[in-house]
Amino acid sequence: MPYRLDVTSDQDSYPILIGAGDWTTLAAEIGVRFNPTQVVVAMDETVASIYGSIATSALTKIGKPVGQLLCPAGEASKSAEMAANWWQALAARAVDRHAVIVALGGGVVGDLCGFVAATYLRGLRFVQVPTTLLAQVDSSVGGKVGINLPSGKNLVGSFWQPGLVWIDPAVLRTLSDREFSAGMAEVIKYAVLRDDGLMTFLEEQSPAILARDPEVLGPLVHRCCAIKADVVHQDPRETNGIRATLNFGHTIGHAIESMTGYSSVLHGEGVAMGMVAETRLAERIGLAAPGLATRLEDLLRLYQLPIDLPNFAWEQWHRAMLRDKKNVAQQVAFALPSRLGCVALKHDVAIGDVQAIVSC
Ligand SMILES: NC(=O)c1ccc[n+]([C@@H]2O[C@H](COP(=O)([O-])OP(=O)(O)OC[C@H]3O[C@@H](n4cnc5c(N)ncnc54)[C@H](O)[C@@H]3O)[C@@H](O)[C@H]2O)c1
Ligand SMILES: [Zn+2]
Repeated sequence: MPYRLDVTSDQDSYPILIGAGDWTTLAAEIGVRFNPTQVVVAMDETVASIYGSIATSALTKIGKPVGQLLCPAGEASKSAEMAANWWQALAARAVDRHAVIVALGGGVVGDLCGFVAATYLRGLRFVQVPTTLLAQVDSSVGGKVGINLPSGKNLVGSFWQPGLVWIDPAVLRTLSDREFSAGMAEVIKYAVLRDDGLMTFLEEQSPAILARDPEVLGPLVHRCCAIKADVVHQDPRETNGIRATLNFGHTIGHAIESMTGYSSVLHGEGVAMGMVAETRLAERIGLAAPGLATRLEDLLRLYQLPIDLPNFAWEQWHRAMLRDKKNVAQQVAFALPSRLGCVALKHDVAIGDVQAIVSC
């Protein structure tokens, strides 16, 4: 694979390999790296229908039994019921501590499979093979794994690092336009977080990126993973505020997802609207100079992302934002940009300014 990043965590160190790989090379890498007693591939039904048989038959070449864990596509699968279902399936296969589980899919399968791997037999080795843009640039890096409860998203989970992350941007060709654009919201977030020419690159290269040219996506995904890995390295367990800067756009984005019932708005779409509103908030309170929000809006439009906030009563906004995990003592927290490349966590934004922004 042409790009390699080595991620060091408090648990372990593992490589992220990025590029035009093929399934046989992935299987050989898993065989050599883990020498597993068996391999279990976790997928949702959509991913299984596209890549299930090619992946499984390549993994069979390791010469060990290969099994599958399946779930319906969609956020509802990130549940305690599905985790229990997969634990039982692993028990039925007599999976031992030397087995390896491969999470092949988007963030839902990555989070669920990682959680099952973290908990079964007190921890199994697992490999992330992310197949959505969001999973390639975000959820497969950093070691957060977990499931949802009826009362909230990601309420049960753990930090559990994969032994290998294998990213082939060619699989993004089969992703829907809408899911691809939603992943671009997180890419654009990294550009605001770090700049480094990334913003200009995204502005200039939109035709090649939207055409999903793997030659362009490879270095782009590599750049995003490097930014995320660096942030996570500085704050592995989200204790000093650095990792929370990855939440730029997410205070308002999460509120939109929650108010719309996690169904009509994709996570990345919520983040896109949230980034514009939070940048306008930063401009309003004099933290950022005027102009950044408009530049961001133009870029998000280029990638077919929504920028206008939905209409909700202020009480609903406020209630939704009060549930944000970054808050301290009922004060709504925001990761706000002061300029391109500089985002910091703020706990002292006056609620009247927030109301003015979401009520426009
Ligand atoms: N762990 C973390 O740090 C972290 C970070 C961000 C998001 N997340 C989580 O990630 C989840 C969202 O992930 P997502 O956006 O990848 O959603 P997803 O996993 O639901 O995938 C989106 C859709 O795309 C389909 N799909 C996946 N790959 C495909 C491909 N190559 N071709 C065609 N279809 C494909 C899936 O079947 C699904 O229908 C959320 O649960 C969120 O909480 C976790
Ligand atoms: Zn996000």
